[in-house]
Amino acid sequence: MSLSSNHTTLRVLVLPGDGIGPEVIPAAVAVLQATGLPFVFTEAEAGWACFERHGISLPNETVDTAHQSDAILFGAVASPSYAVIGYSSPIVALRRELDLYANIRPVRSLPLPIRQQSGNWTDSQRQLLPERQIDLVVVRENTEGLYSGQESSNNEIAVARRIITRQASERIVRTACQLAHHRSTTHERQVGLNTASQPAQRIPQVTIVHKANVLRETCGLFRTAALAVAEEFPAITVDELLVDNAALQLVQRPERYDVIVTTNMFGDILSDIASFWGGGLGMASSANLGKQHALFEPVHGAAPDIVGQGIANPLAAIGCAAMLLEHLGQQSSDSTMAEDCGTWASRIRTAINTTVIEGPNTPDLGGTARTEDVTDAIITALN
Ligand code: NAI
Ligand code: MG
Repeated sequence: MSLSSNHTTLRVLVLPGDGIGPEVIPAAVAVLQATGLPFVFTEAEAGWACFERHGISLPNETVDTAHQSDAILFGAVASPSYAVIGYSSPIVALRRELDLYANIRPVRSLPLPIRQQSGNWTDSQRQLLPERQIDLVVVRENTEGLYSGQESSNNEIAVARRIITRQASERIVRTACQLAHHRSTTHERQVGLNTASQPAQRIPQVTIVHKANVLRETCGLFRTAALAVAEEFPAITVDELLVDNAALQLVQRPERYDVIVTTNMFGDILSDIASFWGGGLGMASSANLGKQHALFEPVHGAAPDIVGQGIANPLAAIGCAAMLLEHLGQQSSDSTMAEDCGTWASRIRTAINTTVIEGPNTPDLGGTARTEDVTDAIITALN
């Protein structure tokens, strides 16, 4: 991806989408604006409401603007669970159109020092934010697998094609191994931390998740390609799990994981399970990365059960703002810009941690606050 040629602006395409997307994405934009960095935001349409208005879920103008942006901030889309002629999910299409092959979904529990200040938490808050030290990332292949969109049905028999290629498998596993290496060298992985001043050195680990015992060809190819790529990274401990066992381990022993790499649908499901340890879907942020483009979106969907109530947790979207800044910083060849983006990303993460501990919190975290209260608290914490 290349930043704007003169490096004086950071062009962000904003796609709020459907449901609570338009409630939480403005919070992320407000936080990015509060940094004072030279953002230029362009808002465009995509999603189910867009389809209802214009007969297309991802207009060409939106795609064109996406190609010209340094980063994209996406909310959610309310895809119906039944076939609608002419409709397909715009986020799935965008991932393919922009070749955003790596879906990076980190889950981190609150760090211990900040937890120790949480003496006034209620029991329900303790259940929602369990006291475990978890720091893992689900790296999900984003362009093929069961979400290739190749389905047919004659109303008696329905068929989905599950496409797995060696090339896509290799590049996603390479991304996972590079990420595991990066996390170990930057001390970014902080599992087992007892104090902030004693970062635990952990051997980077990549867990390859598949179901090759049943899906011998598709998962079999993924597994073979994954193990071959992993050999290029001798410093990384590599193990493999069948997806059903991997799901159980995410519930029973989530601390065992560092980086999980898997195919599209398995990654979708496992990352929702994993999000529990970080406070649930209202806290889970993700990046969709390719060679040229980057899109950031909360893991959650349109949340129709709470839409319009003003109580959606904006922290997943605000966490996306931090990921976006970190990414733009890494991409920038301007050292001042790179440093500023990195600094603001960590300041936003600190503000998120503080706000979860001290409140205000939305109902999903056991509080009674509204979306805007949380956003205001984050911006106040940044100032
Ligand atoms: P969902 O993620 O929208 O909601 C699941 C549960 O989590 C709901 O109880 C919801 O209220 C809660 N939740 C989600 N985000 C929250 C937040 N920020 N604050 C507080 N609570 C939050 O998933 P669901 O219900 O399975 O799907 C609803 C719609 O969203 C469907 O139309 C689905 O197609 C779409 N969807 C879109 C995604 C995307 O745009 N990437 C991802 C997942 C679902
Ligand atoms: Mg999902």
